[in-house]
Amino acid sequence: MASAVRRIGVFTSGGDAPGMNAAIRSVVRTCMHMGIECIGIRRGYHGLINGDFVQLDFESVSGLSRRGGTMLYSARSEDFKAKQGQDRAAATCKLLGLDALVGIGGDGTFNGLLCLAKQGLSVIGIPGTIDNDIACSTYTIGYDTACNTALECIDKLRDTMQSHERCSVVEVMGHRAGYLALNVGVACGATTVLVPEKPVDYEKDIIEPIRRSRLTGRTHFMVIVAEGVAGGAYEVAQHIRQETSVDTRVTILGHIQRGGAPTLRDRVAATYMGYEAVRLLAEGKTCRVVAMKGDEYVDYDITEALQMKKSLDPQTYTVMRALTGIG
Ligand code: F6P
Repeated sequence: MASAVRRIGVFTSGGDAPGMNAAIRSVVRTCMHMGIECIGIRRGYHGLINGDFVQLDFESVSGLSRRGGTMLYSARSEDFKAKQGQDRAAATCKLLGLDALVGIGGDGTFNGLLCLAKQGLSVIGIPGTIDNDIACSTYTIGYDTACNTALECIDKLRDTMQSHERCSVVEVMGHRAGYLALNVGVACGATTVLVPEKPVDYEKDIIEPIRRSRLTGRTHFMVIVAEGVAGGAYEVAQHIRQETSVDTRVTILGHIQRGGAPTLRDRVAATYMGYEAVRLLAEGKTCRVVAMKGDEYVDYDITEALQMKKSLDPQTYTVMRALTGIG
């Protein structure tokens, strides 16, 4: 069956995530396979406004799956928020003869796609963010790599905390969500984990777990704080020093969590999602977000996807509470 689209633009937008390159490669190679032309838009919506593009073919994405970052660069565009910016982006699409766009990013990226759909373009979103905070999808590209990077750093921190009998307060990324913190906290055997979705009781959630751990003979402690927690890691550390007199150090892991070669899980998810995005466009579908529901690849209407709510995995939260003795 002939494809419903002839020329697709692909771009990455918002915070980059490991696996975005694998998704770009997949979009491009699937396009080639289906006889569709593919144009890379550089620097997200900024590039769409300014006509910043690159022609992509089978060769130009060779070896890309294993590379971190995004070959198309990424940006958060202020100009695109205004109608004038959206009109200029639509004009670029018209000039380049694009019938469709694939945007890889988060909710902001999907909102932008909706604006361009109103201007007559077919659009598909792919969830790419280390935060795993996209409601319609149980998984987002980059999450697994970021969790593993954070875990590796925390394991290293633990060595020195153990030697010096200190408490480490580690702040991990996640924007307003605690998925990364919770997952990493469970994996590293944290003394306690603080997430923005749950109210934090300093005594019950921080001091008591440290005391209990000390009573079992431990002399070093690992506290994981999601960046969205009010007060952040410094306030938590100050409180621990005051209440326990344990020598306490703060480490903000920061952007290191966004870098590095994607894990197998991210490469595979990105590759499937890239394929699905092009398949949907070729079949004449538009305004969809490719997503994961458990292990399955599915797609949702963008407007519905943006209205969905996601909560922390209750099982992981319960397990964390049980193992830290918080109850
Ligand atoms: O959304 C990804 C993310 O890394 C968040 O975890 C973090 O809050 C934010 O982006 C940081 O953004 P920036 O790269 O602009 O500092």
